[in-house]
Amino acid sequence: MKAIGGKIIGREIEALGSVDSTNDYLQRKLAEESLPEGWVVTAGEQSKGRGQRGAVWHSTPGKNILMSTVLYPAFLPVDKQFSLSMAMALGVSGFLKGILPGREVKIKWPNDILVEEKKVSGILIENSLQANILKNSIVGIGINVNEKPLADTAWPAACLADFKGVGKAAHLIPPLCDFLDLNYSKLKSGNTESIHNEYLANLYAFQEERNFIDPVTGEDFTGSITGIDDFGRLLVKGLNGEKAYSLKEIQFRK
Ligand code: BTN
Repeated sequence: MKAIGGKIIGREIEALGSVDSTNDYLQRKLAEESLPEGWVVTAGEQSKGRGQRGAVWHSTPGKNILMSTVLYPAFLPVDKQFSLSMAMALGVSGFLKGILPGREVKIKWPNDILVEEKKVSGILIENSLQANILKNSIVGIGINVNEKPLADTAWPAACLADFKGVGKAAHLIPPLCDFLDLNYSKLKSGNTESIHNEYLANLYAFQEERNFIDPVTGEDFTGSITGIDDFGRLLVKGLNGEKAYSLKEIQFRK
């Protein structure tokens, strides 16, 4: 473990060789002891890396960034909890923009990060609530650095090395933490509106017509993203007007 720059996120980094999942590891550790906010755990490999919607997150040892951090965003009102997800997505996208100048980096709702329309990073946030207050949030981040997924993925994927040689994944963790920290500080200082606006400015397909699928019925439809509501739902204007969709209710059709 070593101390590095960054106000909250990444003040301390615990580097593990192998673990089941950095999110699960932090969850277990939190059950046993209290951890300072912004404690980061990284792993060279995960035997049970998890993604959104129950997906598996695979990575060959040492190739990619696999990290989680614990945050205590009790300051966030219940109806503004998605702001944390926005802030973390902005942290990762800001970091990637810095590494890949001139490349198009976008956030695909809710918090996938695309470079030139290919998924390079995913974020898995797991919240523990106590009386409607966010007791803790474990933010897990995977970034494909030197390897993209071996199997077919729901969305075309890429790794940073497809665009530019960036060296070892582990070296990128401290600067990534600085970007996450910057955006978390903004959120903590009450700047939720600027986070929201910046998120929309970086949102993939914002105000553009796209094809979507209802994952339950398999029906597809056309619409244009008009915004995100306080609950983090995607607002899409289709033929029958504007509707708010949760993660289980809509998917982009690629
Ligand atoms: C997604 O499906 O897009 C989210 C992927 C999140 C993967 C990261 S890797 C580090 C952390 N530990 C996990 O088990 N998952 C997250």
